[in-house]
Amino acid sequence: MSDFVPIQSDLNEKPDARGDSGPSVYIRTYGCQMNVSDSQTIESLLADAGYRFADSLDEADVALINTCAVREHAETRALGQLADLSRLKKTKPHAVIGILGCVAQARKREILDAMPFVDLVVGPDAYRKLPALLEERMISPPGSPGLLETVLLREELYDDIVPRHRGGVTAFVTVMRGCDKFCSFCIVPRTRGRERSRPLPSILREVEALVSQGVRDVMLLGQNVDSYRWEGRTFADCLSEVAGIDGLARVRYMTSHPSDISERLLDVMAGNPKICPYLHLPIQAGSDRVLELMNRPYTRAQYLKLVEAARVRLPQIALSTDIIVGFPSETEEDFRQTLDVVREVEYDTAFTFKYSVRPGTKAERLEDDVPEAAKVERLERLIAIQQEISRRRNLAQVGRQTEILIEHEAPKDAGMWTGRTPDYRPAVISKNGERIGDLLPVRLTELVGFTFRAERL
Ligand code: SAH
Ligand code: SF4
Ligand code: F3S
Repeated sequence: MSDFVPIQSDLNEKPDARGDSGPSVYIRTYGCQMNVSDSQTIESLLADAGYRFADSLDEADVALINTCAVREHAETRALGQLADLSRLKKTKPHAVIGILGCVAQARKREILDAMPFVDLVVGPDAYRKLPALLEERMISPPGSPGLLETVLLREELYDDIVPRHRGGVTAFVTVMRGCDKFCSFCIVPRTRGRERSRPLPSILREVEALVSQGVRDVMLLGQNVDSYRWEGRTFADCLSEVAGIDGLARVRYMTSHPSDISERLLDVMAGNPKICPYLHLPIQAGSDRVLELMNRPYTRAQYLKLVEAARVRLPQIALSTDIIVGFPSETEEDFRQTLDVVREVEYDTAFTFKYSVRPGTKAERLEDDVPEAAKVERLERLIAIQQEISRRRNLAQVGRQTEILIEHEAPKDAGMWTGRTPDYRPAVISKNGERIGDLLPVRLTELVGFTFRAERL
């Protein structure tokens, strides 16, 4: 899943403990939306097992960290956080410290060997075992060896578990897990296992349940949603059926792969006003030579054709992408081709990363030969160009009539609402009797930083 918004979502912000007697758990989540969604599944499993949720580490009996391994920096940060959680044991020797998610899967026993204070290492397909593992750990004497559970299961979809929704009008819904693409740089297929799709009826049930709790906008999640297959149904079918649910105002999705996205999907988007005109279409690199080394089976020309096909059908579409600079052997000329694509496509947003070697990937065998200074310099040039494009594209929206979904009160001004346009641009507007979850026709009047000011029509 794209960790393209490296979210540090602290799911404990608004605790709503279901009971008040069981041990209390504190969960910290890093990485992509998939991890945020998984943490909600974990919370649901733990709530059913009688756990409460603590809103700070110090109040917790159990501290869990759900981690991301996609780049070295993410992994280092996760392990650093783990060390931070260990301070809990100073005041509570019986406290349980666990590491979940992609770093748990990628590093397994190494973590237990290097960090003896860790009690649990649990990978993304083993969360059902968490209640039993926690129980076992709590009754074992302090200092016992940590427990490891990292088997990847092709069947695991957590399909019967309703992730714990924490309120609000937006929610994530996982439609598929795992990835079979094996881009040469990417660790995700190794941390999340083979691709599998959820049955469509249970996706629809989950969205309906969320709508009955006040959700108006869902984001369907998968590493590569275009590979969704269930009993002959495709992602286009899934999207259009979700959009048909009464009471749901908007549906969006993440992420698409340029080799798999279908014209039918674009047609379904164009034909359904509830489906947001937003497409995250990672290109990774603009040079065909580098794309081949990355095992991304499309050329830059094919990618550009796809962008054109999307823009013809959906003129208002917002496009975002992921780009890696400094992939092994990337020359200045290769990099310029990336800049050319960025200038040509004019993305609304680009999430840009320096290449970092990941254990067990195919690219690990290539020499990481682009010097760090060149990676930094390329990244800076890329960001500067993209920022200019983003700003220009945003400014072109000023004056436009659109509709915003009111999501919450503006963080620093109780007299204002914050909402988003269908193409995901944030806007604030003064309150005038509306409620959270309302769709409001507006005109965008001004751009302040990355946020628009809007007036009602
Ligand atoms: N298909 C996934 C991608 C998940 S990883 C999705 O749902 O979007 C998110 C992004 O991280 C990738 O698109 C890629 O640009 C970047 N990335 C992955 N592995 C990387 C690595 N080894 N070094 C640098 N960036 C990487
Ligand atoms: Fe990684 Fe590629 Fe799969 Fe995305 S599509 S998760 S980048 S292997
Ligand atoms: Fe997501 Fe990071 Fe894992 S991006 S899939 S949490 S490696």
